[in-house]
Amino acid sequence: MTGEDECRDQKILILYASQTGNAMDAAERVGREAERRGCRSAVVLSMDSYDVNRLPNENCIIFVVSTTGQGDIPDSMKVFWKFLLQKNLSSVWLSGVHYAVFGLGDSGYQKYNYTAKKLDRRLLNIGGKSLIEKGLGDDQHPSGQ
Ligand SMILES: Cc1cc2nc3c(=O)[nH]c(=O)nc-3n(C[C@H](O)[C@H](O)[C@H](O)COP(=O)(O)O)c2cc1C
Repeated sequence: MTGEDECRDQKILILYASQTGNAMDAAERVGREAERRGCRSAVVLSMDSYDVNRLPNENCIIFVVSTTGQGDIPDSMKVFWKFLLQKNLSSVWLSGVHYAVFGLGDSGYQKYNYTAKKLDRRLLNIGGKSLIEKGLGDDQHPSGQ
C-alpha cells in the first residue's frame, strides 16, 4: 500500500467536552479548518455522543476540552473519563492512535486547565501517540474571551 492509499482513508475525529459551549465552538472551528486544509473527513462529536470502546480504532483524534468548577471535567466527559481511568487498560491500548489535546481554561483559577492536563497524561499512559504538545487556551489572555 502506498502512502497515498493510506491517506485516502484517513479521517480525523474531533472530540469535545464543553460545559457552557466554548469548547464546542472551538471544536467546530477546528473541524471546519481541517476540512479547509484538505482533510478528507472531519467528524466533530461531543464525548457523550461517542462510544469510547471505539477509541483504539481511530487514526487521529483532536480533543478539545474545557475545565469547569474547581478544576473539574465537564459533565459530558464523565462517562468517557471513568472508562479511560480503568486500571485494566493496558499501556498499549491506544498505540495506534495519534492525538492532540487543546484545553480551554482560565489561569485565574488555581487548577488551570486541569482537564486537558489530566487527559493528555492519561492518553500517553495508555499508549496514545502525541502529535504535538498540548495547547492551553486561557480566558485571561488578551485575545481570549
Ligand atoms: C464556573 C466556572 C468554573 C471554572 N473553573 C475553571 C477551573 O477550575 N480551571 C480553569 O482552568 N478554568 C476554569 N474556568 C474557565 C473555563 O474553562 C473557560 O471559561 C472555558 O472557556 C469554558 O469552556 P466551556 O464553555 O466549553 O465549558 C471556569 C469557568 C467557569 C464559568
